[in-house]
Amino acid sequence: MDQNTSPVVSSEKIRVMSGIRATGKLHVGHYFGALKNWLELQKQHQCFFGVMDWHGMTTAYKKVDEVPAWNRDVFAEILAWGVDPQKCTLFVQSMVPEHLELFMIFANLTPMGWLERVPTWKDAEEEAKANDTHNLGRFAYPVLQAADIAMYRANRVPVGQDQVAHLELSREIVRRFNHLYKAKLPEPQALLTDTPLVPGMDGRKMSKSYGNGLDLTEDQKSLEKKIKGMPTDPQRVKREDRGEPTVCNVYHFHKLFSSSEDVQWVETGCRSAGIGCGDCKGKLAENINNLVKEPREKKKELLNQAQRLDSIILDGVDRARKEAQLTLKIVKEKMKLI
Ligand code: TRP
Ligand code: SF4
Repeated sequence: MDQNTSPVVSSEKIRVMSGIRATGKLHVGHYFGALKNWLELQKQHQCFFGVMDWHGMTTAYKKVDEVPAWNRDVFAEILAWGVDPQKCTLFVQSMVPEHLELFMIFANLTPMGWLERVPTWKDAEEEAKANDTHNLGRFAYPVLQAADIAMYRANRVPVGQDQVAHLELSREIVRRFNHLYKAKLPEPQALLTDTPLVPGMDGRKMSKSYGNGLDLTEDQKSLEKKIKGMPTDPQRVKREDRGEPTVCNVYHFHKLFSSSEDVQWVETGCRSAGIGCGDCKGKLAENINNLVKEPREKKKELLNQAQRLDSIILDGVDRARKEAQLTLKIVKEKMKLI
């Protein structure tokens, strides 16, 4: 095990920071990539979870008028799934302006070369040029992310295996800060979590431009419709044909959402033509619906109680700001700015 993911020393107080960048409603990938882990983490550690709207605006800057509604939607969704504001600190990034101050402090000490080397930037550069998001804000995305983490003096960030390298830049920025100003901000380490890749309904990468996404609290009718439309094993043309589940995206979804008994039922039934694709999809729709129906109702209720939702948001932001202001005080003292 490398130092980046080393096991936790029991005497160390763990502070966890994580965020969701939202440009619209949350999709099922957000459940597996973030929410599901947050629900566990909040039980054990001091956690800071944010709706990262500045990160959203790096690409959505032309429709910022939609951001306030996105924030409320995402916040309500996070609460509806059981992330508990009594157990953790939940905030909206842009409502804690200290993030931008620390961002600038970090931006000054981050060499351009470090950002140019970020693989996600290289991969997205052509696409960014094509859709008018080849901008400074997006380039500096990882610096803002480093500031988000250091803002709460967090020492753990939940990430999937594929993101461990990404976090390295945050560590390097914090390390450089500590070195330059003889400070002791914690270098954030990866807290490895299980984050399975969730494909789109058609098996391609889930993307808004493909229109193949599944919202986290999709209503039952459209959920069923989307599942009905999923492609199946192309070799299985007639009901009597035997199929091969591993080439079928419906099966991949079963593995994410269904019990092991149901997964077994699909494997045997598909390979022996004991079940039809309609049965298989019906079961999937039922299982997803069972998972999402309660949060779906809770979210609706919250969005209908605007004042209650607002006061939960303001309370979380208030607590986040206290931590953020304390961090900035430490940071500026170390820099001898104050
Ligand atoms: N980049 C993350 C995403 O794409 C969101 C995010 C912003 C974040 N700041 C963070 C995650 C700090 C962890 C820690 O969803
Ligand atoms: Fe896919 Fe299920 Fe049909 Fe098999 S039975 S091809 S897994 S939809």
